Amino acid sequence: MDIQLTDRPLNQLSTDTIVRFTYQDEPVTGLDQNALGEIKRQEYNGQSLQIALCHRPEGLLARRLILVGLGQPSAISQEPSSGQPTWRQAAAQAIRLAKQGKDSTLAFDLTNLKYSTTKTVGLLVEAMIEGALLGGYRFNHYKSDRQKEPEVAELIIVLPSDQLKVAESGRDRGLAIAESILNARDLINQPPSHIKPAQLVAAAREIAALSPNLSINILDESALKKEGYNALLAVAAGSEEKPYLVHLHYRPAKAQRRVSFVGKGVTFDSGGLGIKPWKAMLTMKSDMAGAASVLAICQMLAELESIGQPLPIEVDGVIVTTENMISGKAMRPDDIIETKNGKTIEIVHTDAEGRLILADALTYTSQLKPEYIIDFATLTGAAIAALGRQYAALMGNDEPLLGLIERASAESGELLWRLPLPDLYKKHLESSVADLQNVSSGSAPDAIFGGLFLREFVGEKIGWCHIDIAGPSFVENEDEKQPLYPKGATAYGALLGLKLLELLVEKAAPTA
Ligand code: BES
Ligand code: ZN
Ligand code: ZN
Repeated sequence: MDIQLTDRPLNQLSTDTIVRFTYQDEPVTGLDQNALGEIKRQEYNGQSLQIALCHRPEGLLARRLILVGLGQPSAISQEPSSGQPTWRQAAAQAIRLAKQGKDSTLAFDLTNLKYSTTKTVGLLVEAMIEGALLGGYRFNHYKSDRQKEPEVAELIIVLPSDQLKVAESGRDRGLAIAESILNARDLINQPPSHIKPAQLVAAAREIAALSPNLSINILDESALKKEGYNALLAVAAGSEEKPYLVHLHYRPAKAQRRVSFVGKGVTFDSGGLGIKPWKAMLTMKSDMAGAASVLAICQMLAELESIGQPLPIEVDGVIVTTENMISGKAMRPDDIIETKNGKTIEIVHTDAEGRLILADALTYTSQLKPEYIIDFATLTGAAIAALGRQYAALMGNDEPLLGLIERASAESGELLWRLPLPDLYKKHLESSVADLQNVSSGSAPDAIFGGLFLREFVGEKIGWCHIDIAGPSFVENEDEKQPLYPKGATAYGALLGLKLLELLVEKAAPTA
């Protein structure tokens, strides 16, 4: 999609459609009587994601005028960035309608929105572009008639003349961020026989090449064996594919803080010998969604640097990648493995493989001694049972970090909710033959068990949180209230990670 900023008057634009965004109960101005009549008939009042269509609007060259509701302006707080989730969604809604109408050119008229600060304009344009690209995304690489699918080729963003210049950095950011997220979505949506651990490593290498400040360390099978990453090796044992631990390290000048992200990268989860029923195995190509989001965060850091807007924070992106398969070599129930940090684990269920590979990844990452570790993992079906498909489950050991994650989530629009990690439930981790068991033999809640288990592998004095993204990482049934998330991968967590880093940089900046 070609994206341009302009201050040309609306009546000179010859795009197929022009889109206007309005807040709830805000009077719609600058339209002729016919158009206003049409809007009235559609009972449009600007409610969130509501739409109204006017055909052949008088005085405009465009074929259609679409209004998209932004909901209550009061939902947007003093903080300018708090408007972003709304703007993103509204842009996604607009692009979907445009595609339905087979538009190939589109204009977003942003001249009627009020800008409180110049910062707001950049944030607005950024969010609109992200919304357009994320909402317009379709995974259609394998459809032979994909050329025939409607595609918006050109998006023109119309702004008041005095805002054009400041909007440019927002446009560049929006493009950089969306491109990174779409790359992650593609990785997740690709079939499991196409994206195997080696292909995830190749994707990480490509990202590392984007910036001189990004370095990459890859532990292959022989390094993993030599250094005792036996939990990762145990999960990989049943697969023909070799496992990897990949560490992307972003180290810009003037970084004051260090934060690490860890991602689960199971490129296909069959369940292992405790094999899943066929229906539960469907979508298990997306069991590497956590790793893909971590890669997207690293890509964003590199892309933001290349447009001259670097984030001064040291970041690690650690992914552990393998398949969970069956064969005569596969890990067996009743096996006992000794992990990288020395703790032993009794394998009760081979399908609880994510926590095993993450145990080793958390040990590796703890050795880097970051201030915070955030892990993204499609860990449990129980997280979906508890919170549904739209919310991720958030757990952790550090109150300030949990608070920051919740703020980041409010800005990114990626929903999450806390679950407790009570010591009271720690007894479920106990095994009679090893230090820990990977699944409770009793009736422990699985999502919380996962969090308690991972906590055992976090180094001392490191703030950590675990985000179980089993629900929101992949859309099986589209929801019309979530136009940003078309069927398939969402790359949930990528934007959240970036927002967290921005909050941390803000906090590190000397107060004026
Ligand atoms: N990858 C799955 C979790 C999952 C389920 C992700 C559904 C996305 C959608 C994970 O490896 C798994 O199989 N977990 C088991 C754990 C159980 C054996 C304790 C589960 O949730 O059933
Ligand atoms: Zn599993
Ligand atoms: Zn899994």
